[in-house]
Amino acid sequence: MAATRYSVINWLTSVLRRPGFWFILAILALITLAHYEEALAYPALLSQLTNNLNLDRHAFERILCLAPIVWAGFLFGWRGALITSLAALAAMLPRAIFISPHPLDALFETSAVFVIGNVLAISFASLRKEREYRTQMEVARREQQKIAEELSAMQQNLRYYLQQATRAQEEERKRISHELHDDTIQALVVLSRQLDSLASGEKGLSEENRLRLEELWQQTDNILRGVRRLSQDLRPAALDRLGLLPALEWLASNMTEHSAIEAEVKVIGEERRLSEETAIALFRITQEALRNVWRHSGATKAEMTVEFDKDKARITITDNGKGFRLPEKIGDLAKNGKLGLTGMQERAQLAGGTLTVQSQPDKGTSITVELTV
Ligand SMILES: Nc1ncnc2c1ncn2[C@@H]1O[C@H](COP(=O)(O)OP(=O)(O)OP(=O)(O)O)[C@@H](O)[C@H]1O
Ligand SMILES: [Mg+2]
Repeated sequence: MAATRYSVINWLTSVLRRPGFWFILAILALITLAHYEEALAYPALLSQLTNNLNLDRHAFERILCLAPIVWAGFLFGWRGALITSLAALAAMLPRAIFISPHPLDALFETSAVFVIGNVLAISFASLRKEREYRTQMEVARREQQKIAEELSAMQQNLRYYLQQATRAQEEERKRISHELHDDTIQALVVLSRQLDSLASGEKGLSEENRLRLEELWQQTDNILRGVRRLSQDLRPAALDRLGLLPALEWLASNMTEHSAIEAEVKVIGEERRLSEETAIALFRITQEALRNVWRHSGATKAEMTVEFDKDKARITITDNGKGFRLPEKIGDLAKNGKLGLTGMQERAQLAGGTLTVQSQPDKGTSITVELTV
């Protein structure tokens, strides 16, 4: 109740502050004055107008009241129109009832002004509201469009940045792998051979020293194998020297050799020469998928099917493991720090392709990456 009173008072004070209110009041006062002070003559122009319209002076004044009512409706809504029309009614009625020689006609005209005024005012007010609403909608739509454009530009920039970062990462891996291969591995090979020939060829060596030399040779050999693995992992030599299929064969034999999973590669269609970027994207995605098979699936078999179409290359990696429940979006996994599948999807999209994951508990997993070549 108090809140309603407060809002009415607020509305009234806001109305009183607007010049339009005082104009309407002045016009109403002017019309009322003319309505009762007949001694005040009309300016010639107005008399001519009423004559031309074939209206008597008082009827004309009643019709004139429509103007402030409609204006009030336009400025202050239906409440403004109602109050103004009530004020006009209060001003016109005494004359219609007590002074007019045709009270019935006068009463009819006054009531008609009241009704028509309100109807017109409310129609104008709702028209204005609708126009305001449409303008607001248009502004909101433009804002939305602007935000969408900005977002799309940001997305493009981010994608470009990711593409460059991925390229730089691959280049760096390649460089480190080559350096390991050309320098570190060669030096370790020489060291290993020297230790081997020392241990087996040197005559005056005590048994104890020979055993220590052999141990050193073994350690060097282990380091050598570790560095070779690291170099291969960073950038399989087969990928650069022989292409995608031998690199995938290497992945499969590596897996079969070091785990209880039997992995194999199948090829459908005629092998195509792929760009370095496409080949590396396909290889990295397959590598990550196999890593998941090894870590999570408990499978005994993994299969990589490579398909070459007219303009597409597709690899499907399937396993016969325990599968898993897929989230609604692959990206949701990243929130829990699981970045493998999200990274694979991102990588496929960066290369202009798609990644599809199919999995169900106890039904194995199948991941397909498809790129345009
Ligand atoms: N071949 C699979 N078999 C069974 N479950 C899998 C397989 N691949 C993925 N998953 C399930 O999907 C989850 C998400 O895999 P994802 O590669 O995104 O993350 P992660 O392997 O757990 O961690 P990260 O790859 O970041 O080291 C895994 O935790 C696992 O539960
Ligand atoms: Mg993973």
